[in-house]
Amino acid sequence: MTFQRGPLCGDVRVAGDKSVSHRALIFAAAARGTSTVAQPNRGADVLATRDAIAALGAHVADHGETIVVRGGALHAPATTIDARNSGTTTRLLLGLCAGRGITATFDGDASLRRRPMERVARPLRAMGAAVETNDGRLPVTVRGIVEPAGGTFELEVASAQIKSAILLAHLDARGPVRITGDAFSRDHTEIMLRHFGRDVRFDGRTVELEPGALVARDVRIPGDLSGAAFFLAAAAITPGSDVVLREVGINHTRTGVLDALRAMGAELSVTNERSLDGESVADIAVRYRPLRATTLAGELVVRAIDEVTLLAAVAAHATGTTRIRDSADLRAKESDRLAVIAETLRACGIAVTEFRDGLDIVGGGARIPEATLHTHDDHRIAMAIATLAAPVGAHTIDHPQCIAVSFPDFVPLWEAAQVTYR
Ligand code: S3P
Repeated sequence: MTFQRGPLCGDVRVAGDKSVSHRALIFAAAARGTSTVAQPNRGADVLATRDAIAALGAHVADHGETIVVRGGALHAPATTIDARNSGTTTRLLLGLCAGRGITATFDGDASLRRRPMERVARPLRAMGAAVETNDGRLPVTVRGIVEPAGGTFELEVASAQIKSAILLAHLDARGPVRITGDAFSRDHTEIMLRHFGRDVRFDGRTVELEPGALVARDVRIPGDLSGAAFFLAAAAITPGSDVVLREVGINHTRTGVLDALRAMGAELSVTNERSLDGESVADIAVRYRPLRATTLAGELVVRAIDEVTLLAAVAAHATGTTRIRDSADLRAKESDRLAVIAETLRACGIAVTEFRDGLDIVGGGARIPEATLHTHDDHRIAMAIATLAAPVGAHTIDHPQCIAVSFPDFVPLWEAAQVTYR
């Protein structure tokens, strides 16, 4: 498919937050009783979690706009769980199984099979579960234990998936659990623990969970800032844009993309702030204004982990050299996102220097690429290319179907919001 030139205008309501949807379904499965998840993300990743919790014994009724889950009594699945493209499904459910005495094998597609699993296997072994990986990758088999002791864990990477796996492994722990070494990775699991009635303290660095029981609860899902970000970024770099994203999650562990756009000079306004079942949401408006380069490093990268490639696309349209550092983990996402976005930007005439943990991007002069751009089947790369095209036009991508991993309605929403000059 081909993305066109043109400003983004009007009101947009994006898909439900992917991270929060995974957690809502997993907590609903873990809690005894019935929970309703409203406005869930309906991308392939979240549907992989829906199917996985059903395979683990939760009773799931999917009505589209809501998913009703009766949870509590989980058991070993009859067959291997297929997590498809979803790292979150795999890592979080490995944690849940590890602390519920469940034996299960997880597998996935070619991209997920390339992603590192020892980082989650190691802490789960330390709490007493047996975890076998295939040379550090999928397929992975976990043999869980019941009522783990609790204790202290130090994160080897500031990863919300690993932190969440450890927390889910300790839902039935006999003693408190303490996790150190975080750097403001997303705290949706901690917020969801509180929503489901648990006593948990967290400050961006350390999490402490007290023993207790989960209470089934209904959950409304905020709009996904990671989906909204493509619209916000495209509007920020395309003259004539004036767009409002409605009811988007603005959890501060996710708003690195807004901070980065502001640092580049974007005109953003966040209004109508409120809470939706513990998560902050707001309406976010943006208008075009010329942008300048910035530096993305440290905690800002953790708080924008899924938007760094998008910000690289924005940097192509800003004046000056944008420096991205501390981003080596992007090489272990759905694709090697540093290498793939570097290749994409070069195909659009942008000078990029690649480092082990980042990129230097010389902004200005982006042009229409001559050849089809490769998404490497990575949904966030595909949507970043839509943004890259908005000020200049005609960027053709392969495998557009990968977008459905997180945002099945992206293309119709984009086409409805974009004013094109054909
Ligand atoms: C996620 C955490 C992040 C992010 C991923 C979703 C989550 O991964 O990249 O898309 O829902 O916990 P890491 O925690 O491994 O950085």
